[in-house]
Amino acid sequence: MKVSVIGAGNVGATCADVLAQKDIVNEVVLLDIKENFAEGKALDIWECAPVNLYDTRVTGSTNDYSKTANSEVVVITSGLPRKPGMSRDDLISTNAGIVKSVTENVIKYSPNAKIIIVSNPLDVMTYCAYLTAKKPANEVFGMAGVLDTARYRAFLASELNCSPKDIQALLLGGHGDTMVPLPRYTTVAGIPVTELVAKDKLDAIIERTKKGGGEIVNLLGTSAWYAPGASAAQMVEAIIRDQKRIFPVCAWLQGEYGMNNIYLGVPVVLGKKGIEKIIELKLNAEEKALLEESAGHVREVMAVLDKLNSQSA
Ligand code: LAC
Repeated sequence: MKVSVIGAGNVGATCADVLAQKDIVNEVVLLDIKENFAEGKALDIWECAPVNLYDTRVTGSTNDYSKTANSEVVVITSGLPRKPGMSRDDLISTNAGIVKSVTENVIKYSPNAKIIIVSNPLDVMTYCAYLTAKKPANEVFGMAGVLDTARYRAFLASELNCSPKDIQALLLGGHGDTMVPLPRYTTVAGIPVTELVAKDKLDAIIERTKKGGGEIVNLLGTSAWYAPGASAAQMVEAIIRDQKRIFPVCAWLQGEYGMNNIYLGVPVVLGKKGIEKIIELKLNAEEKALLEESAGHVREVMAVLDKLNSQSA
């Protein structure tokens, strides 16, 4: 079984590395447009195999998509990352062109692949890939919620001085500052988080989560990669091993949550068919309003993409 990762930058290479260490596929193909870049990263990762004890063959390619043929899952990380002061939305015109041409090439060689988008602005790049791929929406989705809940859970584990393994959390909405972490659906070993963390502290953690990507951009001068790469790899694992994991995933809504024709983060069941089910929660009025606000923001950026597409049509 083969998985391809497009874009051998920090996120793509980390995803390939984590996937190789999971030892769940025979082959990981890393592809990049920059001459010899994916080959170099892939070789370095493959040279870890005798140390980290896995069999997964990791190979690299400079833009030769035939090497990705018949992939079960393709992760698209291509595009520019953020610099300090930029929002994810500032990347739209550059990254839309990249994601469109990458998706066309991916589909040509792996028409049946499940496609996971990681490029930003996430929700709208997932929409872009969906429009380009022209395949069922349950096979084209975006990685954001796994990363955003990971940040939320990590902050809670620090606050409570407990294992992050014991923190379960859910988050809805777009991958931006309007994302909606849900305290009502956050537990610590089954204990509602609201019983363990004071409201002001929890509110501060939620705010920090919403700006979690920006916090790293400000520290490093570029986007995060360890947690984004590991999060994408976890989604790949759920698909490859048909785990039916429940993750927040950027999914195409057709009536769910009262919304239509929008890519937005919602809890789903992830298995070998991709998104096997969208789970609809009974939100209270406040949660609903926050989700609407986040959706409104995603729609604004979707409209920018629609306009770009109509100009180039
Ligand atoms: C982040 C980028 C990858 O949230 O969107 O770090």
